[in-house]
Amino acid sequence: MESTRSRLAHRLAEAGQSHLVQFWDELTPEQQAEMTSDLEAMDFQEINKFFRSAMEVSHSSKQEKMDARMEPVPREVLGSVTRDRDCLKDWEDKGLRCISQSSVAVLLLAGGQGTRLGVSYPKGMYDVGLPSHKTLFQIQAERILRLQQLAEQRHGAKCCIPWYIMTSGRTMESTKTFFSRHSYFGLCKDNVIFFQQGMLPAMDYNGKIILESKNKLAMAPDGNGGLYRALGTQGIVEDMDRRGVKFIHVYCVDNILVKVADPAFVGFCVQKGGDCGAKVVEKTNPTEAVGVVCKVDGRYQVVEYSEITLATAEKRSADGRLMFNAGNVANHFFTLAFLRDIVQTFEPQLQHHVAQKKILYVDTQGRLIKPDKPNGIKMEKFVFDIFQFAKAFVVYEVLREDEFSALKNADSQDGKDTPTTVKHALMSLHHRWVLNAAGHFIDENGTRVPAIPSLKDGTDLPIKCEISPLVSYGGEGLEELVSGREFRPTLVIDESGAHELVKNGL
Ligand code: UTP
Repeated sequence: MESTRSRLAHRLAEAGQSHLVQFWDELTPEQQAEMTSDLEAMDFQEINKFFRSAMEVSHSSKQEKMDARMEPVPREVLGSVTRDRDCLKDWEDKGLRCISQSSVAVLLLAGGQGTRLGVSYPKGMYDVGLPSHKTLFQIQAERILRLQQLAEQRHGAKCCIPWYIMTSGRTMESTKTFFSRHSYFGLCKDNVIFFQQGMLPAMDYNGKIILESKNKLAMAPDGNGGLYRALGTQGIVEDMDRRGVKFIHVYCVDNILVKVADPAFVGFCVQKGGDCGAKVVEKTNPTEAVGVVCKVDGRYQVVEYSEITLATAEKRSADGRLMFNAGNVANHFFTLAFLRDIVQTFEPQLQHHVAQKKILYVDTQGRLIKPDKPNGIKMEKFVFDIFQFAKAFVVYEVLREDEFSALKNADSQDGKDTPTTVKHALMSLHHRWVLNAAGHFIDENGTRVPAIPSLKDGTDLPIKCEISPLVSYGGEGLEELVSGREFRPTLVIDESGAHELVKNGL
């Protein structure tokens, strides 16, 4: 025991992190044992190296704007659901064929802490208040089930879409328990694979690891780009290989509209021979704080709004659209071969980004302090950091109102990206699906509601309508249920048919 302690003390001293054991004598033997095992598992030299290079990159990127080095995405690598309508069916067919051969997997990034939403459980377990009260996890699981069914119907062979779920130390246990309690929402348990990303300590501006209590380090997941290290350390690439997976769709847990394993996106990327693809939505407002996919010095990357001047953000092309308009929504396609190269060769070259945060800490007297301004950094890699290594990068542009609405914040008046806004986005999409399938809505007086998407009586409240993903993945198959019929909201369409909810529970 003594030698373990002195070895540890030596390692800490060498790394300039001895303050971590400043309260040692006040800890119980159990706390000491726990802290010893936490500290023993850490590579302080590596952490210090991460800190130094992240701070260096952060300083240099603050000094130089990107503008002069940027080029927009060239048309030849771009597919668009609005501008390439004629190709959509081919792409979708291609994607469905790949799915039917069980060569497409989905990978969910669900290791975040959801601090802004402010709930203590994983975001995927959140119920945004739909009539069905389905959680984000359930909605995604049911889309996978439906898509497997569509691919099977089309190609007559049983298939599966393995679902890889990346969690972190903070979300792993509760996520697994939730899935098990809900019988994997009807999916085969063996095809839902959980794995865990790494954690890194929060540091103060001098590179000292922050203590969140006398016996605990302030730890946080290493960003959604922690994916690539985790794919290697957790044997996920090998697992994909064993299952015959060739293509992977990666997405974030918080997008309620996400088209999981989107066959058109997959088909487009495969047909174009892409090894790495990004789904984007059009950025329409120059000052919107969204990163844009573009080329910098000839290589693809995401450039944040803060990295360019307003003049560049406002530049327009001949068609009137913003020149840098490929808004990144963390929704990607990768070939397995590309991911293998990343894991085996390029991952160590990725630098951490610095996020300045207010981090709870104990002071030298052992008092817990809640800072009112940022007092340190968290180090994160981003999922899109690997675009630069692509040999054949492709971009797929979709409509925001059809495919992207993210849950980030708790509800507040006029809030953005809240449970209310994402619920409305989903209901508004489902409303449009009903209209497209020749169904109609009537109000309480029996008068037809005009077919203006998502607007009702001049208010911005959508028509209350929810369609189970088990019935329709992307608006298909609804005609026989709704065509020529009139519905009084709330309309719910599930496996047992189309129902008006008598009691309006929303
Ligand atoms: P965000 O950056 O929005 O973070 O994650 P968050 O954790 O959901 O929310 P805040 O910032 O704490 O409020 C975008 C996506 O990346 C995943 C999240 O789970 C979400 O799907 N993510 C984020 C990870 O998987 N790991 C991370 O370390 C960070």
